[in-house]
Amino acid sequence: MDFKTQLHGAPGLAGLSTDALVVLVAAQQVPADLEPALAAALEAAAKAGDFEFKAGKTLYAHRVEGVKAARVVFAAAGDANPKSLAKAAAAAVAQIKGGGAKQISVALVGGANWTGARAEALVGAVSDAVYVYRETKPSAPPASALAAVRVVCDKADAAEAGAGLKRGMAIADGVALARRCANLPGNHCTPSFLAAQAQQLAKDHGLKVEVLERKDCAKLGMGSFLAVTQGSDEPPKFIVARWMGGAKNQAPIVLVGKGITFDSGGISLKPGAEMDEMKFDMGGAASVLGTLRAVAEMKAKVNLIGIIPSCENLPSGTAIKPGDVVTSLSGQTIEILNTDAEGRLILCDALTYAERFKPALLVDIATLTGACVIALGAHRSGLFSNDDELAAELLAAGDAALDPAWRMPLDEEYDEALKSNFADMANVGSRAGGAITAAKFLQRYTAKQRWAHLDIAGTAWKSGAAKGSTGRPVPLLTHFVLGHAR
Ligand code: BES
Ligand code: MN
Ligand code: ZN
Repeated sequence: MDFKTQLHGAPGLAGLSTDALVVLVAAQQVPADLEPALAAALEAAAKAGDFEFKAGKTLYAHRVEGVKAARVVFAAAGDANPKSLAKAAAAAVAQIKGGGAKQISVALVGGANWTGARAEALVGAVSDAVYVYRETKPSAPPASALAAVRVVCDKADAAEAGAGLKRGMAIADGVALARRCANLPGNHCTPSFLAAQAQQLAKDHGLKVEVLERKDCAKLGMGSFLAVTQGSDEPPKFIVARWMGGAKNQAPIVLVGKGITFDSGGISLKPGAEMDEMKFDMGGAASVLGTLRAVAEMKAKVNLIGIIPSCENLPSGTAIKPGDVVTSLSGQTIEILNTDAEGRLILCDALTYAERFKPALLVDIATLTGACVIALGAHRSGLFSNDDELAAELLAAGDAALDPAWRMPLDEEYDEALKSNFADMANVGSRAGGAITAAKFLQRYTAKQRWAHLDIAGTAWKSGAAKGSTGRPVPLLTHFVLGHAR
């Protein structure tokens, strides 16, 4: 989808040539700056009880007298804060995406101007609204005819709005890549598929990609990562993708994404209900690929390295068993008390591997614990960090990107739960505080680093009727990384 600014010219909104005119109304009544033909239509609808000035409420009108565009959609946008504006834009597009409109113009009325943040929010909302999964569903509804969006703005706002649109489009492309990878079922989206996606990014966007095979990982001593994959016939891949847009001497940001392409639980088998959703267990990996794509598309002057340990977690005659002890790349040994706590087992080796890049900071992203879903639900990702400044930056990036997180604790008291009689640590504690003990486990592998961990178990996908990947936290991560660009 293509987004551009369009200057608010002499013919005004009523005279605009467009397939559909979307009017975002940032006011509690018919705004004074709205042209008479449009104001009359809105006034009449509000009087008749067909429109409310409440964020997300819409009115579709066909062939409004005195308006050139055949289709007009009004959408209430509250006070035009990016979140309300996104809600309004999503509701407006829902009204037209199934129709014949190919090109739409979006105006903001009620005294608010287009800013970068508002423009970016618009792109995110529209891109989300027209997304359809079709890869393995030939009967999916046809793609929306909608291909171009023009943002009607004043000359003074055009540069900022244009930059917001550009950022929004890069993020939307990253989100789309993450959604596609995560929505694909486990028999399509394998570790090899993720590696191929990374190679494709290398080709299209100038990334450098290296893929370590099982034997390479064995040589290095990744006993923990290899333990998880040993029950599966699907070859594991350890993917390293680099975007080196910054200065040579600039220490890189390293993102580590959990890439379990299917998590059955292994010998500690999960219950059958909703087990299909464990195809989304590579959501962290998908968000790393999506962020790399967005950052490369922006040609950001920053050094960014994505590391993706990827494999399946399956039960078999060769699978790990509860009680098995393995040696991680760091040299620390781990007693695997529950084979379903596999995410931390692949991440710990990747976090240790990351040290060789001497990162400025390290962020891992993982659909790590059901406990995090219980704690925070589907709205905010769980954030853990050993560095207050880094935590604050990530929280701010999430707020700005409408992809919010919430900080969780890492007190040393929680570490007790990981004690083992047979290894340096166990891979699980008790049920209580499960998201925190998982983070405490990872912290044992990042002592020398500025590190943060995002538990996205609740935010990476939606369950129920709208089941599917969200592409989160690509917006948060992209904002964060762009904030480090020089
Ligand atoms: N991939 C799951 C986490 C998960 C569960 C994400 C449900 C989304 C929804 C992870 O590998 C896992 O199984 N974690 C266990 C940890 C437990 C065994 C300590 C969990 O959360 O139950
Ligand atoms: Mn698991
Ligand atoms: Zn898992």
